[in-house]
Amino acid sequence: MATELRGQLAAGAATTVRGLVRAFGERTVLDGIDLTIRPGEFVALLGRSGSGKSTLLRILAGLDNGAGGKVDVPSRNAVVFQDARLLPWSRVLDNVVLGLGRSERGRGERALEEVGLAKHARAWPSTLSGGEAQRAALARALVREPELLLLDEPFGALDALTRLRMHALLRELVARHRPSVLLVTHDVDEAIVLADRVLVLTDGRISLDARVDVPHPRRRHDGEFASLRARLLAELGVQDDSDASVNDALASDGVSEALASDGSDSEPDTDSPEPNTDSSGPNTDSSETDTHGPETDTSTSENDTDSEKQT
Ligand SMILES: Nc1ncnc2c1ncn2[C@@H]1O[C@H](COP(=O)(O)OP(=O)(O)O)[C@@H](O)[C@H]1O
Ligand SMILES: [Mg+2]
Repeated sequence: MATELRGQLAAGAATTVRGLVRAFGERTVLDGIDLTIRPGEFVALLGRSGSGKSTLLRILAGLDNGAGGKVDVPSRNAVVFQDARLLPWSRVLDNVVLGLGRSERGRGERALEEVGLAKHARAWPSTLSGGEAQRAALARALVREPELLLLDEPFGALDALTRLRMHALLRELVARHRPSVLLVTHDVDEAIVLADRVLVLTDGRISLDARVDVPHPRRRHDGEFASLRARLLAELGVQDDSDASVNDALASDGVSEALASDGSDSEPDTDSPEPNTDSSGPNTDSSETDTHGPETDTSTSENDTDSEKQT
């Protein structure tokens, strides 16, 4: 079985998935997914660790051709993973424009400006904090002007404050560039704050598909936010605890262990290393280090604060 037709869409068409099935050996991970993401729509995908979120995202990104069903994805798509996957031997700007012509450097510089990293264009990736590295990864995705932006737990390894700043930055960038977005996350609050629509993946299917009718700025204790949050937590099989953060609530449940391993990248060993943005993207695998990266290193945290101020 192979997925039919990929990347054949005319500009402005929706991303569509029909009857998508993906099995690994005996285990069927995706069991008949139907999904439409309209142009400019921001969809968040929630699910327990191992539920197949990354598998779905990788199929949409064209990184896994072993699925059955029909997938139509805009040819201009880009992926950002939990770890920035910058090539350590290339300067930040070179990472951003990797695979693009030399004439695109100006666009790369503008993308770095948009994410507040203009001053770091000539820096080496190792000098960036975790938040800065993810900004660079966002710039590398944006410079390709994707119609579909695929984000796989992009903020999962960042500290809480940096994550909030990244949420604001992402909202701003999405409002300006208007790609469709599929954000994979296990953070219910993140999903509600950012998305127009939230999906829950359970047992290989979309078990819940909810529109987020919560006015901005979205605050956790607002009524509509709280009721959607409770619904999503229930669907995920997690006890709602409104006084704790969602991750605390998840940690108080049996899924904490799974989530902990998810946070350090649950992709299986059998996976081959994958490119970052598209098939021509950088291909370093720093997944081993992503939760222990420079963002937790006090020697770079100052650096981080500096760049965070620029937004
Ligand atoms: N290439 C692969 N080979 C074998 N099993 C895989 C492969 N990719 C994913 N899986 C399995 O599929 C399930 C879903 O994985 P994944 O999509 O990474 O989950 P999630 O992102 O929701 O945590 C897991 O059980 C995982 O081990
Ligand atoms: Mg995953």
